[in-house]
Amino acid sequence: MIVTTAALFKLAYGKYAIGAYNINNIEQTMGLFRGCIDSRAPFIIQLSKGARKYSDKRMIEAVIRAADEIFPEAIYAVHLDHGDEETCYDCIDSGFYSSVMIDASHHSFDENVEITKRVVERAHAKGISVEAELGMLGGVEEDIAVDEGNACLTNPDEALEFIQRSGCDSLAAAIGTSHGAYKFKGQQSLHFDVIEKIAKHIAAAGLPPVPMVMHGSSSVPKDEVRRINAAGGTLDPSACGVNEDEYLPAAKLGVTKINIDTDGRLVWTRVHREFFRDNPNEFDFRPPGKIFMDEYAKFIAAKNVKLGSAGQLDDIRAALAK
Ligand code: G3H
Ligand code: 13P
Ligand code: ZN
Repeated sequence: MIVTTAALFKLAYGKYAIGAYNINNIEQTMGLFRGCIDSRAPFIIQLSKGARKYSDKRMIEAVIRAADEIFPEAIYAVHLDHGDEETCYDCIDSGFYSSVMIDASHHSFDENVEITKRVVERAHAKGISVEAELGMLGGVEEDIAVDEGNACLTNPDEALEFIQRSGCDSLAAAIGTSHGAYKFKGQQSLHFDVIEKIAKHIAAAGLPPVPMVMHGSSSVPKDEVRRINAAGGTLDPSACGVNEDEYLPAAKLGVTKINIDTDGRLVWTRVHREFFRDNPNEFDFRPPGKIFMDEYAKFIAAKNVKLGSAGQLDDIRAALAK
């Protein structure tokens, strides 16, 4: 059942985080739904511009609609990840999305406010909520590459002004993470002080809490990288991500949506590299596809435990029925 992102946020805020998983194909969709049912977790499906273009946006949206029939117990929201203005409007007008992200963080502060405000007006008119980004994460966001030198943490004072002026419903704050497999050199450093200050400023201004979103949250398991490389991959073994034990402390401070893409790609790469290494005569893609669906479901269920969303499904259903 597709629900609003706002409803999920309201129930989860300050207690646990909802996993927002990027998907692109049938196998990921099956694994995601199974993993969330197995772990009794609500979730957010997010589609990037790239995912909507990979086959055709109608194809991946139809796959989600089919999964909705196959897994009637599932409770989830559908979200556009890292949208530009045009893609936000396309998703808002389609009637299929629960929320959109407008990523105008590479513009000046004032331009970011103006663009976000326009998207908020169009989205709210249709009951859709809007995630906006302030500050710059390192790595690649769609086709915009941000090198580590230009990545900058969100300024908490600016965040309050941004929220007030733009009217956004949730905020992707840059707190030291970046997209992809190479997030930290040496020691991981997440800046929870930024989240804390933003939440304090919002409360002091008398505003209701604004859920925060943590992008670039994959944990890039060492063992996954090792297995990929043992099966012919050449990933840099220093690849390193967010410590999964940081998810819940972040959630308690107001990080309500945690974005995961890279870790799922690593599962895919490990399964397929190992399968074809061990079965060099094989050319049917369904056997590794089946292994991937099982492995991806297991990965999702384990991630939901770390996020605290595992086991929340029945409470969410009861609360939504009220
Ligand atoms: O933040 C970006 C997500 O990982 C989506 O990646 O644009 O390659 O689909 P993508
Ligand atoms: P990862 O690259 O850490 O999985 O982050 C994904 C993301 O932030 C999608 O918006
Ligand atoms: Zn992101």
